[in-house]
Amino acid sequence: MRIIINPNRSVGTINPNIYGHFAEHLGRCIYEGLWVGPDSPIPNENGLRSDVVNALKELHVPVLRWPGGCFADTYHWRDGVGPAESRKTIVNTNWGGVTEDNRFGTHEFMELCRQLGCEAYFSGNVGSGTVQEFSDWVEYCNMPGVSPMADLRRANGREEPFNVKYWGIGNEAWGCGGNMRPEHYADLCRQYSTYLRDYSDHRIYKIASGANVADYEWTRKVAEIAGGTIDAVSLHYYTLPHDEWSHKGAATGFTREEYYATLKKTLRMKELVTEHGRILRRADPEGRLGLVVDEWGTWYDVEPGTNPGFLYQQNTVRDALVAALNLNIFNDHCDTVVMANIAQTVNVLQAMVLTEGAKMLKTPTYHVFRMFREHQGARQVETYAETKLISCGDWSVPNIHVSASEGADGSVLLTAVNLSDTDAAPLEVLMDGITEKSTVTGEILGGDAGAYNTFEKPDAVRPAALGGVEVKGGGVKAVLPASSVAAIRIVRE
Ligand code: AHR
Repeated sequence: MRIIINPNRSVGTINPNIYGHFAEHLGRCIYEGLWVGPDSPIPNENGLRSDVVNALKELHVPVLRWPGGCFADTYHWRDGVGPAESRKTIVNTNWGGVTEDNRFGTHEFMELCRQLGCEAYFSGNVGSGTVQEFSDWVEYCNMPGVSPMADLRRANGREEPFNVKYWGIGNEAWGCGGNMRPEHYADLCRQYSTYLRDYSDHRIYKIASGANVADYEWTRKVAEIAGGTIDAVSLHYYTLPHDEWSHKGAATGFTREEYYATLKKTLRMKELVTEHGRILRRADPEGRLGLVVDEWGTWYDVEPGTNPGFLYQQNTVRDALVAALNLNIFNDHCDTVVMANIAQTVNVLQAMVLTEGAKMLKTPTYHVFRMFREHQGARQVETYAETKLISCGDWSVPNIHVSASEGADGSVLLTAVNLSDTDAAPLEVLMDGITEKSTVTGEILGGDAGAYNTFEKPDAVRPAALGGVEVKGGGVKAVLPASSVAAIRIVRE
């Protein structure tokens, strides 16, 4: 199977934010997963569990979206600032009806971003909030001088502004964020946007609540009506093996047909970013408006015996392939996709890490984000793969999927997925400049589509060095096992 890399052709630079994440007040993502509190016996720094933060740091997380999700349109930020013991206790009406005591709020989230070294992306309340409340939140976070909100921030212990750049104007306004029609939302978006101010010379970046899957009408209307007041429009697309929400399919123990259905549905992301991108370009020919895929990933039936409102699911090599396919697609559409945020960071949906008490494990998806991290900020380069179609039941997919980028040092990172669950794929990678003296190193993850990590065997699935790589003039040969993801770095001579 030949793969041709052409470093002379590129659609642009891969925005590091494509490798972004999302953490909602949902199930055990924030509480237990990230926040254990300063008095916890679990090792922590300022209440944030150190094992999880240290694992996430290895991913070079560029941006983290918070506090929702659906939770965002019920969240009143003032409930989560000030002395922890006097914060309001509310009910998380979206996710399991559990009590939310607001121990984790703006300051705790900004401390998490500080520890991770990432940008914050706040999703503001449009569904049940007010323009004033949202506008005050921006002032609270970003106003350097004297003002009512800046003074309140100082009274709560933070002198300097947080300088939060990314602000989402509501979430899923077509659904849990208010069940709005696109015209109504677009007008509201204009109104909210007017009062979300830049303070000092810190320019904020405004992201409109975007479409569900292929609702192109939503994107068209929001871009046409509100496009001049925002910087980007979002898109949400989840991969479900089965289309019924009451029977999505299990995270583990899936059939071959479910495996291929999952991969086929993931590949739909290419059509979605292409079509939504085309609509944005039509409304904004100068290309100012970006597409932010701020929720994506697999969504299965919850693990048996767990709270259905907590969306806790296991994560197999199949999920690693889903992550790799999506990231390859985002890389190759980096002229359109300016940010993407996988749902969600810990213990919810397609998570990076899972926790159980003091234990933590890294999922196969985590390893893909680590293997792909050098794509962040690199120059996407064109690839062409000679693939063949493989089928199971009603589902056909190409056997190989790739993307590549060139780093500032001139080395090229090729990330490749072998989608076949039965056949190894012998690859021949061709690129100008490869000689016998080129250095080629690689990592490989997978081999068994259904394999996953448990708290008893946390390293059952982990990357290994890619063996048997042959380098000769003009090309590199390597073999990818069935159901695997490879990251191959080529340093030309
Ligand atoms: O990520 C889980 C939920 O999925 C989010 O809260 C919502 O925006 C989406 O429907």
